[in-house]
Amino acid sequence: MGTVLLSVRDCSFGYKGGDFRLRDVSLDVSRGEVLGIIGPNGSGKSTLLRLMGGFQRPDGGEVSLQGAPIRSFSRRELARDLAFLPQNPETSFRFSVRQVVAMGRYPYLGSFAFLNRHDVEVVERALSETESAALGERSFFTLSGGEKQRVLIASVLAQEPSVMLLDEPTAALDIHHRCEVLGLLRGLSRKGIAVVVVTHDLNAASQFCNRLVLLAEGSVVRRGAPREVMDRELLSRAYRADVRVARNPITGAPMAVVLGEGSDEAG
Ligand SMILES: Nc1ncnc2c1ncn2[C@@H]1O[C@H](COP(=O)(O)OP(=O)(O)OP(=O)(O)O)[C@@H](O)[C@H]1O
Ligand SMILES: [Mg+2]
Repeated sequence: MGTVLLSVRDCSFGYKGGDFRLRDVSLDVSRGEVLGIIGPNGSGKSTLLRLMGGFQRPDGGEVSLQGAPIRSFSRRELARDLAFLPQNPETSFRFSVRQVVAMGRYPYLGSFAFLNRHDVEVVERALSETESAALGERSFFTLSGGEKQRVLIASVLAQEPSVMLLDEPTAALDIHHRCEVLGLLRGLSRKGIAVVVVTHDLNAASQFCNRLVLLAEGSVVRRGAPREVMDRELLSRAYRADVRVARNPITGAPMAVVLGEGSDEAG
């Protein structure tokens, strides 16, 4: 694995007036990897991702980007290196799709905010890589949920970051686009960027991520290769569900199957 780009050291965090606490989380994200963060609703995945993106300050511990504390960067400096796609982004802007993607270039623009030839090329490439080029002139707010999600991913790509933090980026995508986006992220990681994805799609995580982190109630309960984290007992306890782990007969990746009322249990 490559150089560590983003590092979380002994971070704790609690919301004012709330009970939830993220407890002593440490993890490194390296060049060339896709790290998946999984865990049940409310386990702290989005909170951790916001901490990693410098949007929330830990009460204790430190997040650093390429060795420097993340709080020492201005938002604009940070945005040249780190891109963040929130779980529930603002999706009502009355801009064209191309304008929304061009916003990804903001951290690079001079005071007159003109896009130069390189900026335009990057925007067009991001549109085509997410199969959104045909939507370019559409008004963003008129798009379907999955189309919006692809355009927002394009806007993150246009930022040309070295670290990408994506909160459930494929939640609204159909199987074709989910596969394309995950393949794209995997390809970018191979070119040397670090990708962190939060997802509820355990099987996609198992197939596409190099490493997984399982969170439960604000703590990391396990981290490691998918085969180490995709464990029957561990997942069943974390998700409070009867989870069985099999091997995907086609890809060989560990595959979670949830049994429950209504399923024809094979035993
Ligand atoms: N702004 C906030 N103020 C107070 N509590 C919050 C705030 N944001 C989140 N929480 C609480 O912190 C806990 C962790 O939330 P978080 O959004 O990190 O969970 P998550 O793992 O991303 O869940 P999900 O899978 O539902 O997206 C939850 O109990 C949530 O209610
Ligand atoms: Mg979340």
